[in-house]
Amino acid sequence: MALVTNSLNILNEEDKEALDLPRISEDEKSSATRKLYIESYGCQMNFADSEIVASILRENDFATTSKIEEAELILLNTCAIRENAEQKVRNRLQHLVPFKNKRKNVKIGILGCMAERLKTKLLEEEKIVDMVVGPDSYRDLPNLISEVEDGHKAVNVFLSREETYADITPIRLNSNGVTAMISIMRGCDNMCSFCVVPYTRGRERSRDAHSIVKEATDLFNQGYKEVTLLGQNVDSYKWKSVDNSIVSFANLLEMVAQVSPDLRVRFSTSHPKDITDDVLYTIKKYDNVCNYIHLPAQSGSSRILELMNRTYDREWYIGRINRIREVLGQECGISQDMIAGFCTETEEDHQETLSLLDYVKYDYGYMFSYSERPNTPAAKKLTDDVPEDVKSRRLAEIIARQREHSLERNQLCVGKTYKVLVEGFSKRSKEQLSGKNDQNKIVVFPKENFKLGDYVNVLITECSSGTLIGKAI
Ligand code: SAH
Ligand code: SF4
Ligand code: F3S
Repeated sequence: MALVTNSLNILNEEDKEALDLPRISEDEKSSATRKLYIESYGCQMNFADSEIVASILRENDFATTSKIEEAELILLNTCAIRENAEQKVRNRLQHLVPFKNKRKNVKIGILGCMAERLKTKLLEEEKIVDMVVGPDSYRDLPNLISEVEDGHKAVNVFLSREETYADITPIRLNSNGVTAMISIMRGCDNMCSFCVVPYTRGRERSRDAHSIVKEATDLFNQGYKEVTLLGQNVDSYKWKSVDNSIVSFANLLEMVAQVSPDLRVRFSTSHPKDITDDVLYTIKKYDNVCNYIHLPAQSGSSRILELMNRTYDREWYIGRINRIREVLGQECGISQDMIAGFCTETEEDHQETLSLLDYVKYDYGYMFSYSERPNTPAAKKLTDDVPEDVKSRRLAEIIARQREHSLERNQLCVGKTYKVLVEGFSKRSKEQLSGKNDQNKIVVFPKENFKLGDYVNVLITECSSGTLIGKAI
């Protein structure tokens, strides 16, 4: 899953600014009498979960607000992926102390991965927290809120093997009315040694394929033009229908692609060990399935990949990249996640990561310094022995190399024309629109008479490492 916050990424400056902040709920027009404020941290799956939470609580007479001072319920939907992700939430809670002291009837709940990881410890450590709710317990929120209103602290961190919230229609938060996320599965069964997600999200389970297609269809009928199918490892999506036929990820992608040729389909995240040729052929077959694959490598060194328990090595990974380019062409957008300074990483291992970057020339990347997470296999069995200054230096080298490649890849787009889906205004000027092309590249161009949700053919005239700039033709 491409992380949206806390990543040292190479987005254009406009987006970086926006994405380093948590997402805040908007003012919902509704007859509901109670106000709910939600702040969401972490990955897109967490953002999608906040939309499910808003939907569940609407039944309880809550409408979302962007103004924290209006809310009687404040929820922080949290991320535990790295130490700094948790630190951000702790700092936020500290800021809320005077607020809560002034308004005793305001209730504060912690949702998401940090809630699941820390459980009741959070109540002990952060006195202003009233409620701790793990990612599979959101249906229980109305009961938990009642408990809190009765003057108790409330906790539910039960992880489910079945819960997919398939029947809940999310309330779109921070929506541009053009692009939306659809969770297609939950949890993760991989055991990457550095990763906390299997412990915070539980076992992998796939959502009913028909409910996914219905959600995509409803979105399209409401005017949305793009959906992103979300899962920690979408390639292992597998759902058995009543007639016992199995829907694979490639099948699901095809089903969603058939909703309408005017509905763009994206997906995230693909796992190098699981992405199949069938998925690549489906992308090729449908113009509306975007030519873009987020394929986290984590390291370019086979020795490190083994310690990370990624279950592929450098050669396998390169084989998948070659196959993507054979089937989908050199233009297919490819992005990475990399971790700098994992346990025992030597200078040679690091050079292998840089050489993998040179080989692939990714369009884009999300790069992180290794952060040991308590109770993960790496924390139990390996030593976090790369000094912080070495991690930071290696990370800076990876980011610098990626930035060169992003610029190089973007320069190849100059002089070409792309179909761009308009998602909003450029943050710098209301006279410029901003959208994405098929390869997931941000394109900015003069507004003229175009509007949100239009598909516009844009000739690219110049670029930076983060943005393509052009004009409609
Ligand atoms: N399911 C996705 C990853 C989800 S977490 C996948 O397998 O690719 C998003 C990214 O955070 C990971 O790809 C990894 O690069 C990074 N990450 C996860 N745990 C980390 C840790 N302990 N320290 C630093 N980065 C980490
Ligand atoms: Fe974490 Fe690995 Fe699962 Fe991704 S595939 S969520 S990195 S355990
Ligand atoms: Fe996502 Fe962070 Fe949880 S990356 S799955 S919110 S630990």
